[in-house]
Amino acid sequence: MKDAATTVMERCELLANISEEPGLIHRPYGSQAMNGVNDIVAGWMRTAGMSTRRDQIGNLIGRYEGLGDRTFILGSHLDTVRDAGKYDGILGVMVAIACVQQLHDRGERLSCAIEVVGFADEEGLRFGTTFLGSSAYAGCFDTTRLQLEDRGGMTLREAVRSFGGDPDALEGDGRSGEDLLGYCEVHIEQGPVLEKEDLPVGVVTAINGQSRIRVGFIGEAGHAGTVPMEGRRDALCAAAEFVLGVETLAKAEADTVGTVGEIQALPGAVNVVPGEVRHSLDLRHPNDGERERVRDSLEDRAREIAASRGCESLWEVRQETDAVPADPGLSSLLSQAVEDSGLKSYRLPSGAGHDASQVAALAPVAMLFVRCKEGISHNPAETVARDDVEIAIRVMRRFLRLLGESHSTEDGAVGQAAP
Ligand code: HGY
Ligand code: MN
Ligand code: MN
Repeated sequence: MKDAATTVMERCELLANISEEPGLIHRPYGSQAMNGVNDIVAGWMRTAGMSTRRDQIGNLIGRYEGLGDRTFILGSHLDTVRDAGKYDGILGVMVAIACVQQLHDRGERLSCAIEVVGFADEEGLRFGTTFLGSSAYAGCFDTTRLQLEDRGGMTLREAVRSFGGDPDALEGDGRSGEDLLGYCEVHIEQGPVLEKEDLPVGVVTAINGQSRIRVGFIGEAGHAGTVPMEGRRDALCAAAEFVLGVETLAKAEADTVGTVGEIQALPGAVNVVPGEVRHSLDLRHPNDGERERVRDSLEDRAREIAASRGCESLWEVRQETDAVPADPGLSSLLSQAVEDSGLKSYRLPSGAGHDASQVAALAPVAMLFVRCKEGISHNPAETVARDDVEIAIRVMRRFLRLLGESHSTEDGAVGQAAP
């Protein structure tokens, strides 16, 4: 019988081949690749004794019944960025299934049901707004996003429908939180801290807040050979000055990270002075007030640069997510599980956003980070060690047992064999 960690690694490997593009991992919201992954993962959930369903936005939800009437949620996301690694999001769902598989193999039921969720869109790759899956699951989906268009001009409304959901049913489709004990997400750290501390896992203290902004500069297209340098209204030069300004400001402001990851220069011809540029801006900080202050000063800066170059600046805040602290009670249970597994419990913040930040609207949340090589992520070189995955599974199994013990059922039956 193959051990759980090897199965998890092999499953991450297998899912890495399900992509919208050959040769790289690319699984945006609502894609055929996401349908394919949902079907395969649903099969693994059923093998682990779970019933499965998909909600209106397309999250995949597996449920393993317990002895009492409470539920604990595990999970992460199944979508990816473009040219992604194999483990971002996926690892958390596979580890969760591995934990339920062991209960099922032993015929055990905990005092609470376990739900495992594979969220349909955490990265926000296709529509520029992150957490479409978990915000819908948590009942805080912003329906104004339905008119957002992807690069091909398809609206989110049309994408939800083509992904098998009813966009008009999204608002009422969120999970209720009454029966929930909490949520725990296992995720690669996507940073260098655990490797530096030489630790396989860490307990997350908080998830940084983030702003996702669409920036534009409008100048004047012109002939590259005849328009004199003086007096050009070159939108790409304005954007370039702004992007370097983001880097300078973010370096100067403690705990701030600012990134321009996506840019389009139009009309995009070799011999035409760019008349229009649209680009992204991703701003993060552990303190929401600080992030908003930096955001506003960057908006002013964009306006100043545009004016100095005879251009106009455009600024659209696409989405903002406040920083979310992990629940102290759940996090100490998770730390206890780490220590019971013979490891030092180390606490660290998350610079990356996670679905836990949305589920926090429903229930207390905690996160377990797994070391990843050189902190590399959002990159095909993303790597985790099988032994660290084995430790994460062991910690999560211990965590669920501690949870079961701390929420025994009415008749005191905790973690009994199935009737
Ligand atoms: O962007 C993030 O922080 C996450 O990987 N979606
Ligand atoms: Mn990611
Ligand atoms: Mn992720």
